[in-house]
Amino acid sequence: MAARLIDGKQIAQDYRHAVRDAIAQRLDEGKRAPGLAVVLVGSDPASQIYVGKKIEACQQAGLVSQAVYPDADISQSDLLAIIDRFNADDSVDGILVQLPLPAHIDASVVIERVRPDKDVDGFHPYNIGRLAQRVPQLRACTPLGIVRLLEAIEEPFHGRQAVVVGASNIVGRPMALELLLKGATTTVCHRFTRDLAYEVGQAEILVVGVGKPGLIKGEWIREDATVIDVGMNRLASGKLVGDIEFEAAAERAAWITPVPGGVGPMTVAMLMSNTLRAAELREARTA
Ligand code: GUN
Repeated sequence: MAARLIDGKQIAQDYRHAVRDAIAQRLDEGKRAPGLAVVLVGSDPASQIYVGKKIEACQQAGLVSQAVYPDADISQSDLLAIIDRFNADDSVDGILVQLPLPAHIDASVVIERVRPDKDVDGFHPYNIGRLAQRVPQLRACTPLGIVRLLEAIEEPFHGRQAVVVGASNIVGRPMALELLLKGATTTVCHRFTRDLAYEVGQAEILVVGVGKPGLIKGEWIREDATVIDVGMNRLASGKLVGDIEFEAAAERAAWITPVPGGVGPMTVAMLMSNTLRAAELREARTA
Protein backbone atom coordinates (compact mmCIF):
# COMPACT_ATOMS: atom_id res chain seq x y z
CA MET A 1 0.00 0.00 0.00
CA ALA A 2 1.49 3.30 -1.11
CA ALA A 3 -1.16 5.64 0.24
CA ARG A 4 -1.03 7.28 3.65
CA LEU A 5 -4.09 6.73 5.83
CA ILE A 6 -6.16 9.74 6.90
CA ASP A 7 -6.78 9.09 10.57
CA GLY A 8 -10.34 10.32 11.00
CA LYS A 9 -10.55 8.92 14.51
CA GLN A 10 -7.60 10.98 15.71
CA ILE A 11 -8.59 14.16 13.88
CA ALA A 12 -12.17 13.84 15.16
CA GLN A 13 -10.89 13.41 18.68
CA ASP A 14 -8.90 16.63 18.38
CA TYR A 15 -12.08 18.49 17.35
CA ARG A 16 -14.10 16.88 20.13
CA HIS A 17 -11.50 17.88 22.70
CA ALA A 18 -11.57 21.45 21.40
CA VAL A 19 -15.37 21.50 21.81
CA ARG A 20 -15.09 20.02 25.30
CA ASP A 21 -12.55 22.68 26.30
CA ALA A 22 -14.68 25.49 24.87
CA ILE A 23 -17.71 24.22 26.80
CA ALA A 24 -15.68 23.99 30.02
CA GLN A 25 -14.64 27.60 29.48
CA ARG A 26 -18.26 28.64 28.92
CA LEU A 27 -19.20 27.07 32.23
CA ASP A 28 -16.32 28.91 33.95
CA GLU A 29 -17.72 32.13 32.52
CA GLY A 30 -21.13 31.37 34.00
CA LYS A 31 -22.71 30.45 30.66
CA ARG A 32 -24.83 27.34 30.21
CA ALA A 33 -23.81 24.16 28.39
CA PRO A 34 -25.15 23.98 24.82
CA GLY A 35 -28.11 21.64 24.37
CA LEU A 36 -28.83 19.15 21.59
CA ALA A 37 -32.19 17.50 20.98
CA VAL A 38 -32.22 14.31 18.93
CA VAL A 39 -35.27 12.75 17.30
CA LEU A 40 -35.05 9.14 16.11
CA VAL A 41 -38.22 7.84 14.48
CA GLY A 42 -38.64 4.06 14.44
CA SER A 43 -36.06 1.37 15.13
CA ASP A 44 -33.72 1.17 12.14
CA PRO A 45 -30.66 -0.61 13.60
CA ALA A 46 -28.06 1.51 11.75
CA SER A 47 -29.78 4.74 12.82
CA GLN A 48 -29.88 3.48 16.41
CA ILE A 49 -26.12 2.96 16.32
CA TYR A 50 -25.46 6.40 14.83
CA VAL A 51 -27.73 8.15 17.32
CA GLY A 52 -26.14 6.24 20.20
CA LYS A 53 -22.72 7.48 19.11
CA LYS A 54 -23.95 11.05 18.85
CA ILE A 55 -25.47 11.01 22.35
CA GLU A 56 -22.37 9.44 23.86
CA ALA A 57 -20.19 12.09 22.20
CA CYS A 58 -22.45 14.82 23.64
CA GLN A 59 -21.96 13.48 27.13
CA GLN A 60 -18.18 13.35 26.70
CA ALA A 61 -18.05 16.92 25.40
CA GLY A 62 -20.29 18.31 28.14
CA LEU A 63 -23.20 19.07 25.86
CA VAL A 64 -26.65 18.50 27.33
CA SER A 65 -28.53 16.06 25.14
CA GLN A 66 -32.11 14.91 25.16
CA ALA A 67 -33.59 12.34 22.82
CA VAL A 68 -37.06 11.27 21.81
CA TYR A 69 -37.82 7.98 20.10
CA PRO A 70 -41.26 8.08 18.48
CA ASP A 71 -42.62 4.88 16.93
CA ALA A 72 -42.27 4.41 13.18
CA ASP A 73 -46.02 5.01 12.73
CA ILE A 74 -46.00 8.52 14.25
CA SER A 75 -48.03 10.93 12.12
CA GLN A 76 -46.27 13.75 10.35
CA SER A 77 -48.18 16.35 12.34
CA ASP A 78 -47.20 14.75 15.64
CA LEU A 79 -43.56 14.74 14.51
CA LEU A 80 -43.81 18.40 13.55
CA ALA A 81 -45.25 19.14 17.00
CA ILE A 82 -42.14 17.60 18.59
CA ILE A 83 -39.95 19.85 16.45
CA ASP A 84 -42.05 22.90 17.34
CA ARG A 85 -41.53 22.13 21.02
CA PHE A 86 -37.72 22.01 20.58
CA ASN A 87 -37.81 25.10 18.36
CA ALA A 88 -39.42 27.02 21.22
CA ASP A 89 -37.21 25.59 24.00
CA ASP A 90 -34.43 28.04 24.93
CA SER A 91 -32.29 25.29 26.44
CA VAL A 92 -32.11 23.58 23.03
CA ASP A 93 -29.47 25.00 20.69
CA GLY A 94 -29.44 22.22 18.13
CA ILE A 95 -32.10 19.87 16.75
CA LEU A 96 -31.23 16.72 14.86
CA VAL A 97 -33.83 14.52 13.18
CA GLN A 98 -32.08 11.31 12.20
CA LEU A 99 -32.61 10.30 8.57
CA PRO A 100 -33.98 8.34 6.81
CA LEU A 101 -37.57 8.89 7.98
CA PRO A 102 -40.40 6.39 7.34
CA ALA A 103 -41.92 6.63 3.85
CA HIS A 104 -45.22 8.19 5.01
CA ILE A 105 -43.36 11.24 6.30
CA ASP A 106 -42.19 13.95 3.92
CA ALA A 107 -38.60 14.52 5.02
CA SER A 108 -38.35 17.92 3.34
CA VAL A 109 -41.33 19.23 5.36
CA VAL A 110 -39.68 18.02 8.56
CA ILE A 111 -36.27 19.48 7.65
CA GLU A 112 -37.85 22.84 6.83
CA ARG A 113 -39.70 22.90 10.15
CA VAL A 114 -36.46 22.99 12.16
CA ARG A 115 -35.50 26.57 12.96
CA PRO A 116 -32.54 27.40 10.69
CA ASP A 117 -30.52 28.69 13.65
CA LYS A 118 -31.00 25.32 15.42
CA ASP A 119 -30.38 23.25 12.28
CA VAL A 120 -27.13 21.59 13.38
CA ASP A 121 -27.43 19.11 10.49
CA GLY A 122 -27.17 22.01 8.04
CA PHE A 123 -29.92 20.52 5.88
CA HIS A 124 -32.44 23.39 6.00
CA PRO A 125 -32.75 25.23 2.66
CA TYR A 126 -31.64 28.41 4.45
CA ASN A 127 -28.34 26.82 5.48
CA ILE A 128 -27.80 25.08 2.13
CA GLY A 129 -28.55 28.43 0.44
CA ARG A 130 -26.05 30.24 2.67
CA LEU A 131 -23.40 27.69 1.70
CA ALA A 132 -24.31 28.01 -2.00
CA GLN A 133 -23.87 31.78 -1.73
CA ARG A 134 -20.48 31.49 0.00
CA VAL A 135 -21.69 32.73 3.39
CA PRO A 136 -22.02 29.44 5.29
CA GLN A 137 -23.76 29.44 8.64
CA LEU A 138 -24.52 25.93 9.93
CA ARG A 139 -22.97 23.37 7.58
CA ALA A 140 -23.86 19.72 6.94
CA CYS A 141 -21.73 17.56 9.24
CA THR A 142 -20.34 14.94 6.86
CA PRO A 143 -19.17 17.33 4.12
CA LEU A 144 -17.81 19.76 6.70
CA GLY A 145 -16.00 16.89 8.41
CA ILE A 146 -14.43 15.92 5.08
CA VAL A 147 -13.23 19.49 4.55
CA ARG A 148 -11.65 19.34 8.02
CA LEU A 149 -9.93 16.03 7.13
CA LEU A 150 -8.57 17.55 3.93
CA GLU A 151 -7.35 20.60 5.83
CA ALA A 152 -5.64 18.32 8.34
CA ILE A 153 -3.52 16.75 5.58
CA GLU A 154 -2.93 20.23 4.11
CA GLU A 155 -4.67 19.44 0.86
CA PRO A 156 -4.18 22.37 -1.55
CA PHE A 157 -7.70 23.01 -2.84
CA HIS A 158 -7.32 25.93 -5.21
CA GLY A 159 -7.81 24.90 -8.81
CA ARG A 160 -7.54 21.21 -7.97
CA GLN A 161 -9.78 18.82 -9.83
CA ALA A 162 -12.33 17.50 -7.31
CA VAL A 163 -14.84 14.81 -8.20
CA VAL A 164 -17.81 13.94 -6.00
CA VAL A 165 -19.59 10.65 -6.70
CA GLY A 166 -23.18 10.63 -5.41
CA ALA A 167 -25.51 13.64 -5.49
CA SER A 168 -27.50 13.11 -2.30
CA ASN A 169 -28.85 15.99 -0.22
CA ILE A 170 -26.93 14.74 2.81
CA VAL A 171 -23.49 14.23 1.28
CA GLY A 172 -22.90 14.84 -2.43
CA ARG A 173 -24.62 18.16 -3.00
CA PRO A 174 -23.36 20.00 0.09
CA MET A 175 -19.93 18.38 -0.50
CA ALA A 176 -19.78 19.91 -3.97
CA LEU A 177 -20.65 23.32 -2.49
CA GLU A 178 -17.92 22.96 0.14
CA LEU A 179 -15.33 22.07 -2.52
CA LEU A 180 -16.44 25.02 -4.66
CA LEU A 181 -16.10 27.27 -1.63
CA LYS A 182 -12.52 26.02 -1.29
CA GLY A 183 -11.76 26.90 -4.89
CA ALA A 184 -11.61 23.38 -6.32
CA THR A 185 -12.83 22.71 -9.86
CA THR A 186 -15.71 20.46 -8.95
CA THR A 187 -17.53 17.74 -10.86
CA VAL A 188 -20.52 15.82 -9.47
CA CYS A 189 -21.21 12.30 -10.76
CA HIS A 190 -24.51 10.49 -10.28
CA ARG A 191 -26.58 7.64 -11.63
CA PHE A 192 -26.85 9.23 -15.09
CA THR A 193 -23.14 9.89 -15.47
CA ARG A 194 -22.06 8.21 -18.72
CA ASP A 195 -18.44 7.31 -18.00
CA LEU A 196 -17.85 7.07 -14.27
CA ALA A 197 -14.41 5.47 -14.69
CA TYR A 198 -13.25 8.42 -16.80
CA GLU A 199 -14.58 11.04 -14.37
CA VAL A 200 -13.04 9.29 -11.36
CA GLY A 201 -9.73 9.10 -13.24
CA GLN A 202 -9.65 12.91 -13.44
CA ALA A 203 -9.94 13.39 -9.67
CA GLU A 204 -7.10 14.86 -7.65
CA ILE A 205 -9.58 14.93 -4.78
CA LEU A 206 -12.17 12.14 -4.90
CA VAL A 207 -15.15 11.96 -2.53
CA VAL A 208 -17.52 9.01 -2.87
CA GLY A 209 -20.80 8.71 -0.97
CA VAL A 210 -23.19 6.31 -2.67
CA GLY A 211 -23.69 3.24 -0.50
CA LYS A 212 -22.58 0.56 -2.97
CA PRO A 213 -19.65 -1.60 -1.91
CA GLY A 214 -16.88 -1.77 -4.52
CA LEU A 215 -18.59 0.70 -6.89
CA ILE A 216 -15.30 2.51 -7.49
CA LYS A 217 -12.55 0.28 -8.86
CA GLY A 218 -9.04 0.80 -7.55
CA GLU A 219 -7.62 0.91 -11.07
CA TRP A 220 -9.75 4.01 -11.87
CA ILE A 221 -8.00 6.12 -9.25
CA ARG A 222 -5.60 8.81 -10.48
CA GLU A 223 -2.01 8.41 -9.26
CA ASP A 224 -1.44 10.48 -6.12
CA ALA A 225 -5.12 11.33 -5.63
CA THR A 226 -6.59 12.10 -2.22
CA VAL A 227 -9.42 9.61 -1.74
CA ILE A 228 -12.32 10.01 0.69
CA ASP A 229 -14.77 7.13 1.10
CA VAL A 230 -18.07 8.06 2.78
CA GLY A 231 -19.60 4.63 2.13
CA MET A 232 -20.49 2.45 5.08
CA ASN A 233 -21.71 -0.94 3.86
CA ARG A 234 -22.01 -4.10 5.89
CA LEU A 235 -21.23 -7.24 3.85
CA ALA A 236 -22.92 -10.58 4.49
CA SER A 237 -19.72 -11.63 6.29
CA GLY A 238 -20.31 -8.80 8.77
CA LYS A 239 -17.35 -6.78 7.50
CA LEU A 240 -17.81 -3.01 7.11
CA VAL A 241 -16.57 -1.64 3.79
CA GLY A 242 -16.82 1.60 1.86
CA ASP A 243 -17.79 2.27 -1.76
CA ILE A 244 -14.20 2.11 -3.04
CA GLU A 245 -12.04 -1.00 -3.51
CA PHE A 246 -9.75 -0.08 -0.67
CA GLU A 247 -6.61 -2.18 -1.25
CA ALA A 248 -6.38 -1.51 -4.98
CA ALA A 249 -7.15 2.21 -4.52
CA ALA A 250 -4.51 2.48 -1.81
CA GLU A 251 -1.88 1.27 -4.30
CA ARG A 252 -2.44 4.37 -6.41
CA ALA A 253 -3.65 7.10 -4.07
CA ALA A 254 -1.44 9.45 -2.04
CA TRP A 255 -3.96 9.62 0.81
CA ILE A 256 -7.01 7.50 1.61
CA THR A 257 -9.59 7.24 4.38
CA PRO A 258 -10.16 3.87 6.04
CA VAL A 259 -13.67 2.47 6.56
CA PRO A 260 -14.45 2.48 9.42
CA GLY A 261 -12.36 5.17 11.15
CA GLY A 262 -12.26 7.75 8.37
CA VAL A 263 -15.25 9.98 7.70
CA GLY A 264 -17.69 8.53 10.27
CA PRO A 265 -16.03 9.91 13.41
CA MET A 266 -15.80 13.34 11.78
CA THR A 267 -19.57 13.50 11.24
CA VAL A 268 -20.08 13.11 14.99
CA ALA A 269 -17.34 15.64 15.83
CA MET A 270 -18.86 18.23 13.49
CA LEU A 271 -22.27 17.76 15.11
CA MET A 272 -20.68 18.67 18.43
CA SER A 273 -18.96 21.72 17.03
CA ASN A 274 -22.10 22.80 15.13
CA THR A 275 -24.11 22.63 18.36
CA LEU A 276 -21.57 24.79 20.15
CA ARG A 277 -21.59 27.21 17.23
CA ALA A 278 -25.39 27.34 17.18
CA ALA A 279 -25.37 28.29 20.87
CA GLU A 280 -22.78 31.00 20.26
CA LEU A 281 -24.58 32.38 17.21
CA ARG A 282 -27.88 32.54 19.07
CA GLU A 283 -26.26 34.25 22.07
CA ALA A 284 -24.57 36.79 19.79
CA ARG A 285 -27.93 37.58 18.22
CA THR A 286 -29.76 38.06 21.50
CA ALA A 287 -26.91 39.92 23.29
N1 GUN B 1 -28.43 9.90 8.31
C1 GUN B 1 -27.23 9.66 7.74
N2 GUN B 1 -26.39 10.70 7.92
C2 GUN B 1 -27.08 11.62 8.64
C3 GUN B 1 -26.74 12.91 9.15
O1 GUN B 1 -25.63 13.45 8.98
N3 GUN B 1 -27.72 13.53 9.84
C4 GUN B 1 -28.95 12.98 10.02
N4 GUN B 1 -29.84 13.68 10.70
N5 GUN B 1 -29.29 11.80 9.56
C5 GUN B 1 -28.35 11.12 8.87
